[in-house]
Amino acid sequence: MIDVQTIRQDFPILEQTVYGKPLIYFDNAATTQKPTCVIDKISTLYRMQNANIHRGVHYLSQMATEAHEQARATIADFVNAPYKDGIIFTRGTTESINLVAQCFAELCQVGDEILVSQMEHHSNIVPWQLAAERFGLEIKVIPIDIDGNILLDQYEKLFSRKTKIVSVAHVSNVLGTINPIKKIVEIAHNHNVPVLVDGAQAVAHLKIDIQSLDADFYAFSGHKVYAPTGIGVLFGKREWLDKFRPYQGGGEMIENVSFDKTTYNVLPYKFEAGTPDFISSVALETALNYLKNTNFEEIIKHEDELLKYVTYKLTQIPDLQIYGQAKQKCGVISFNIKGIHHFDLGTLLDKTGVAIRTGHHCAQPLVEFFHQNGMARASFALYNTTEEIDIFISNLKRCVDILR
Ligand code: ALA
Repeated sequence: MIDVQTIRQDFPILEQTVYGKPLIYFDNAATTQKPTCVIDKISTLYRMQNANIHRGVHYLSQMATEAHEQARATIADFVNAPYKDGIIFTRGTTESINLVAQCFAELCQVGDEILVSQMEHHSNIVPWQLAAERFGLEIKVIPIDIDGNILLDQYEKLFSRKTKIVSVAHVSNVLGTINPIKKIVEIAHNHNVPVLVDGAQAVAHLKIDIQSLDADFYAFSGHKVYAPTGIGVLFGKREWLDKFRPYQGGGEMIENVSFDKTTYNVLPYKFEAGTPDFISSVALETALNYLKNTNFEEIIKHEDELLKYVTYKLTQIPDLQIYGQAKQKCGVISFNIKGIHHFDLGTLLDKTGVAIRTGHHCAQPLVEFFHQNGMARASFALYNTTEEIDIFISNLKRCVDILR
């Protein structure tokens, strides 16, 4: 068992009150809070070790470079990537997916097809649409059932000679569904098609093993895993990254520049134009080490208990519809209450100190699949408690009474 009360002391923001009420932060799928060790690491690095990496002959630059490259190795190890030069630092999941979409589409022929699922976040739809428009490609949608499961038999039927890549979420940011990535990859590989996995909602809540999943690309964000905003990761298999032209040009991504011909750097630097966020990379390493040292297996168990508890409590509320009833779920629950607008509910709950998200959750095609214009969503992290869920449920009931 993890000691949640001790863990909570590591997150200073949770001590806050809002509108005079203790903060109950249930918007972790949007962003997670940061432990003191991460906040302190950022401060220490700026105080003691701030120098541009890979460029300086001086002591500080060498220290910063070593720390940044050690962070890359720690991250590779955390997600069990097969090699650390496949780990590219980006600004976040969105940039990671845009990188692959643009570089991959350049290798395609007009009329080639990309498969994405009905439950994708906009960041795993729009980059492909942009690439499709630019290179004359087509997007095919993998259907889901009403419980929020990908329909694997229908997925398999979508493959043709034109199918060039599959891009799917590991965990849905709306439904919480944990997709059967291993199976999805296996089916794609049987057709010689690579798979990109959007791991934004997975890395803080599941043990990620890229080698076991055999994902060709795996993308995630630092800020959803207790690290700062502005840092993200793309893992890519060498066989693909070597084929890609660089995504952006600038310093560091080159081997040699002349006006006649420029040659590019080796992996992963070929995809890291400009000064990288060498402070946030190390802060991300600190966050991952924090998770590792907190007993990740127990964190997963704790979040699963929170999900079961809140699901049970929500099903007791009359006229409440939960969206997403897959057997394999992470700590995300979306719902609506008949006759009450999700926005009103979220706004009123906020006044009671409870932070949830409302709206289309950057997944409009999914929300429309359920014939809704938005939903209320609570999403959990390691520092949340069943006591907070009790307060949330009691406040939710009061809000319903007011709004009815
Ligand atoms: N992707 C984030 C969410 O689901 C912003 O809230």
